[in-house]
Amino acid sequence: MALRQIRIDGDDILRKKCKEVKEMNDRTGVLIDDMLDTMYDANGVGLAAPQVGVLKRIVVIDVDYEHPYDNPYVMINPVILEKEGEQTGDEGCLSIPGKVAEVTRPERVVVKYLDREMKEVTLEAQDLFARAICHELDHLEGVLYKDVAEGPLRDADELPEEQLDSEEE
Ligand code: NI
Repeated sequence: MALRQIRIDGDDILRKKCKEVKEMNDRTGVLIDDMLDTMYDANGVGLAAPQVGVLKRIVVIDVDYEHPYDNPYVMINPVILEKEGEQTGDEGCLSIPGKVAEVTRPERVVVKYLDREMKEVTLEAQDLFARAICHELDHLEGVLYKDVAEGPLRDADELPEEQLDSEEE
């Protein structure tokens, strides 16, 4: 298990466009393993290579964070082929610790990518998985969720107003 340092908002590398991966090799395999370790260690549901300082088009996603390593997706050179519907909800990012903001994303996406054996995969995703794909793919273009958020960044531990009201009773 090897953890890499997560780059934080303000770091120039998070604003750069990533390059396509041409072939799988040992170095890239180690990067993918380290990205998974780093994501699970930070309790994230997704991580993109630039967040650990590598400008390659690789993301890892696992929305089932209660069962780490059971069902991770490794997406190399991912491309969204279809988008449908809308979902609006809070989003966070390991590169913007402790903050959330509301972002509208497609409800459903179809994504094409290479898996870690460099085999082409096309898959349909919905709900949180679709949101995570859109968020992580934005990282590959140097885009952070705060750029596309509808409201201001809020503290992640801040409760919604309705909950605060009911707790006062
Ligand atoms: Ni992020």
